[in-house]
Amino acid sequence: MESPPEKAASQAEAITMSGGGVYSLATIGAKHVIDAALPLVEDAIDAVPEASFAEGFTLADMGCADAGTSLDMVGAAIARIRSRVPDVPVTVAYTDQPRNDFNALMTNVHGLGPFDAYLDDHDDVFPLASGTSFYRQALPPESLHVGFSATAMHWLSDKPGDIDGHVHMVGATGADLDRFRARGHADWRRILSHRAAELVPGGRLVLVNFCIDDEGRHLGSTGGVDMFDTFAALWQEFLDEGRITDAEARSMTLPQYYNTLEEFTAPLVDADEEAHRAGLRLVHAETRVVRCPFAADFEQHGDAERFAHAYLPTIRTWNESTFAAGLDPSRSVDERGRIIEDFYGTYRDRVAADPEGHGMDYVHAYLVIEKVA
Ligand SMILES: C[S@@+](CC[C@H](N)C(=O)[O-])C[C@H]1O[C@@H](n2cnc3c(N)ncnc32)[C@H](O)[C@@H]1O
Repeated sequence: MESPPEKAASQAEAITMSGGGVYSLATIGAKHVIDAALPLVEDAIDAVPEASFAEGFTLADMGCADAGTSLDMVGAAIARIRSRVPDVPVTVAYTDQPRNDFNALMTNVHGLGPFDAYLDDHDDVFPLASGTSFYRQALPPESLHVGFSATAMHWLSDKPGDIDGHVHMVGATGADLDRFRARGHADWRRILSHRAAELVPGGRLVLVNFCIDDEGRHLGSTGGVDMFDTFAALWQEFLDEGRITDAEARSMTLPQYYNTLEEFTAPLVDADEEAHRAGLRLVHAETRVVRCPFAADFEQHGDAERFAHAYLPTIRTWNESTFAAGLDPSRSVDERGRIIEDFYGTYRDRVAADPEGHGMDYVHAYLVIEKVA
């Protein structure tokens, strides 16, 4: 097991090591995305009716991974809650899928990892963890005051099939795209419906989700080298070279859907939609681009090798499990491991040889939703 990074390693290269879990590495870029949401979280806290949290305030971080990226935001949120009702007990409900690395999460939350813990600054704060997917109700009815989620709800509840010639719905067309769109729309409504049940009347959600913005930009595609096209091209090369089979190439499909702002907001503004009927209303919606920290660093230091070395682990954290699962299980574990290493190694070499335009800029929808009191 790797050692956690030193606290002093604060450059973009520093990634959060939390051991074992598929999604347990959080990038500094994801933290920038969360930090940018803090004013929305603070406004949401200010808007919750005070009478609803006389006995206690519940804040949730859904799809929290190892919680390292949201520690500062949660600490600031607790301070804001206490500025309204000093000493009110605060429950911080961390939820993720069952296979998430919850040991890493607790290590971070309790300050035993590489980060400072907000628990040292506030008494009567109760962090709890739940391995309940956001496709289920994770909290008791009408118990949640502010629900937060970042960079998580693009993961679909299931893969609605494979995509011909690409790895992601951003490169899908025709029937492939239709299948992903239908699943994405249904899943978003399912997420909202469970959150509607959990929220107290007057409670709010701050949801920061990957999206396709009005200019057609999305994660890793903001005008430079398209990251998802690069994944697809590399797997095609592996196929052409006979290193993977046709079936394997097809199954390198990521079970994700990126909504547009219009798709995100539709269930909240249409009175016929279930979410609207359940009391959810749109308060705020905007899209933002957060620069890839590794590409930004490269603009300063100009060292292509260093950029490639720092950049690859970030993209690997969130797609390696899908790609590894796409390989035929009849291959030995070693063989599958070699193919995966070669895949990311080829990507890294490509970035090092010609770094211009590579990077993973984040493109998010920042949504604030209230449940009417
Ligand atoms: C890229 S990480 C984001 C982590 C953190 N919120 C951040 O912004 O840095 C995506 C997280 O979503 C979680 N996730 C994916 N599907 C989920 C589901 N159905 N329910 C809950 N969490 C899920 C993953 O396990 C992972 O921890």
